Formats: sequence, C-alpha cells, structure tokens
Amino acid sequence: MTAMDIFQKTTKIDFANNNIAWHSHSIGCSDREKLHGHKGAVIWFTGLSGSGKSSIAGALEQELYRIGVSTYLIDGDNIRHGISCDLGFSDADRIKNIRRISQMVKIMQDAGLLVLTALISPYRHERQLVRHIIPEGRFIEVFVDTPLAVCEQRDPKGIYKKARLGEIKYFTGISSIYEMPEEPEIHLNGQELLIDLVAKILELLRHKDIIKS
Ligand code: ADX
Repeated sequence: MTAMDIFQKTTKIDFANNNIAWHSHSIGCSDREKLHGHKGAVIWFTGLSGSGKSSIAGALEQELYRIGVSTYLIDGDNIRHGISCDLGFSDADRIKNIRRISQMVKIMQDAGLLVLTALISPYRHERQLVRHIIPEGRFIEVFVDTPLAVCEQRDPKGIYKKARLGEIKYFTGISSIYEMPEEPEIHLNGQELLIDLVAKILELLRHKDIIKS
C-alpha cells in the first residue's frame, strides 16, 4: 500500500473523483539530501507529559546543529499555539492533531530535513500511520520511558497537580490512556543523563547512515 493509499483511506477522500491528480517534480528528495549532506528522516519522540521528550529532542537538535545537520524541532505545546490551536485533548482531537502533524513531517522529511517531534502521541495506531507514510527506514520512533510517578513529581508546568484536582479533563496517564510503543527503534530510560540519551540516538542515526560519522 502506498502513502497516498493510506492517506486516502484515512481521510476518505476520493481524489480521482474530485479531479485532483498527484504532481511529480523534477527535483526530488535525494537531490535535496545531496545539498544537505545527510538523509531526510523523522525522529518521533513519544512519552508522557514531563517524560523528557522536549529536553532530549532539544539537546539532540543542538548537537545535530553543531555537526551541520539541517533540523527542525516540532514541539507539541508550540503546535497547539498555531496549526492545532482549534483542538483540545479528546481522543478525536488528539487523532486530528497527530494526523495534521504527520502530513507536515512528511513534507519536511521529503524536503531533506531531519525532523524531530516531541508530542505525547498516545495512540499506537496514529504513530503507525505516520510510520507508514514516511519512507522505509526513515521513521525513528523514540520511546521516552519515564514512570508516571516521576513525571508527576517533576511536574514542570504544574499540570499534573491541576489534573489530580480534576481541573484538566482527559489528562494523559490520569484520565486518558497512553499506549506504550511495542517495537520502538529506541527505548530510552527517561531518568538517565541527557548526554547519554542523546549519544544513543546519534549512534543509531550514524548506524542507519542517516547522518555521516
Ligand atoms: S498529543 O496527545 O496531542 O500528542 P501534545 O503533545 O500535542 O499532545 O500536547 C501535550 C502538552 O499539552 C502537554 O505537555 C501539556 O503541557 C499540555 N496539556 C494540556 N492539557 C493536556 C491533557 N489533557 N493531556 C495531556 N497534555 C495536556
């Protein structure tokens, strides 16, 4: 099944009957990758709020920038200030949020960028959907595994406290589910040192030949 098939199936749009055709262009992803000097890929961080996704992604981006890799970090909280400002945290809204972002990252990966996303992305099915629309081997799921109790203790935004007081509906880990990845490319212990966690991801990117050694 091609990416277009999957997208079409999920959005239930009949492109052919809508007189919409796909355009192919003379400059492709591999041309853009040559300019960048590395491959385009998506590093998809998933985990509870406060698990460390944004901190790890931020530290990784700094290191990638230092070695000359073209990156872009998409942070869940920031996206909700703009493209997803109309969405809340019900199941349906979270699914919409991830699907919008999946199409964004697909374009950015095709542009030859190393895209990093830091979203809770609690549903396995939606994460699988992103995996399927990104070229084989270019989607790296990183599970930031930090126990709920630790996230709650960290509570950098004071948000768990509010959720426990019942002030926030559908809070992930408390009143809304988080489905752990079954076979992520990288399973991180979110309580380890940032520098070690970043090193593990860099090692895999080199091993997969996404960035040069
Ligand atoms: S996702 O589930 O749709 O992937 P996303 O990563 O965009 O979530 O947003 C998560 C951030 O929104 C959290 O880090 C937290 O700061 C904030 N937030 C506000 N309400 C909730 C909620 N009900 N559940 C989880 N996070 C929430």
